[in-house]
Amino acid sequence: MLFGTSRALSGARSCHGWHWRFLSHARPQANPNHLLSLGFAFDIDGVLLHGANVLPEAKRALSILEGNNSLNRKIPYILMTNGGGVSEEDRSKQLTERLGFEITPSNFMQAHTILKSFAHKYANKPVLVLGGKRDVLRKVAKSYGLKHVYTTLDVKAWNPDVWPFHDLTPEERAAATPVDFSTTPISAIFVFHDPRNWALDVQVMIDIILSRGIIDRRRPVENAPPVELVFCNPDLQWRSEFSRPRLGQGAFREAFQGVFKALTGAPYPHVQYGKPTTPTYEFGEKMLRARIEELHGALSTGCEIQPRIYMVGDNPESDIAGANAAGWSSILVRTGVYDPADGLPTHKPTYEAENVEAAVKWAIDREIARVA
Ligand code: G3P
Ligand code: MG
Repeated sequence: MLFGTSRALSGARSCHGWHWRFLSHARPQANPNHLLSLGFAFDIDGVLLHGANVLPEAKRALSILEGNNSLNRKIPYILMTNGGGVSEEDRSKQLTERLGFEITPSNFMQAHTILKSFAHKYANKPVLVLGGKRDVLRKVAKSYGLKHVYTTLDVKAWNPDVWPFHDLTPEERAAATPVDFSTTPISAIFVFHDPRNWALDVQVMIDIILSRGIIDRRRPVENAPPVELVFCNPDLQWRSEFSRPRLGQGAFREAFQGVFKALTGAPYPHVQYGKPTTPTYEFGEKMLRARIEELHGALSTGCEIQPRIYMVGDNPESDIAGANAAGWSSILVRTGVYDPADGLPTHKPTYEAENVEAAVKWAIDREIARVA
């Protein structure tokens, strides 16, 4: 859609004028430069995928952004999930195969990606990492810069009595790193992804926190600082292959805090990352800005572009709440956690759409009409 009046032409030199340059008085036509500051952030589970299954409208939605649109132009996007459990490289490759469009660590972030920015603080200290399969996340944590990374399987291998109701499988034993935890003070616990063994993990977390680092000590280590506790995903529920939402990492956090409070009288202070938290949305906006600049080099006219970001998500608590707080536009789809039959969403989106394809089409039309 070409838009416009002379007003726009005279503004061509100011920061925000650059996308008016191509206006005419004719019926608004699609103007390829008009949408250079537009970008999308897509949630994954419940929007593009149900577990391993790709939603049919997902490929059509990405195809529109990959250039199959009235502007004949690529529109930048990132994938922003509260999921995790593997490296950004491995998950990007898997998503590229499944979605049929190139996804790389430069346009993909998961719940624990943000820890790359903080890992240096604990680089030389022993830490416990929870979640994911066996010791996959040990390698991911080390790739973020954490050098001394242990798992609850290591603890169980060190002393099986730490939790009597689980016997290590041969694969778990093979993934365990032998270490003497009676002399290895754990300084922080990072819950990267959904734990596989809630009971073992809750037990070990409580042991470490109440002893301030040394698992088998009944009394806290004198003068030891409190153990830092970090959760990467607050989702109570998420949508996978099963027809109804499943418990997420947020439910694990509630289980841990419930037991901790029952034992001590109060929940344990923790740091929360993941959608809807501000640090995660700031990280996402930075990534999308870089994509917009990467795709539309022309923008580097020394002007600070104000990206117009649309978040498409299925979870009002995380996707919509976070996008609204970040000043983005938010679109709630009906293919995941949110079900209109349950009543109004807890956080009001800019728009509600049947699925991700309808969401993308609505947003682009809205942007084109915006200056018609
Ligand atoms: O464990 C993942 C889940 O909590 C939600 O993932 O992609 O919907 O943010 P996503
Ligand atoms: Mg989701």
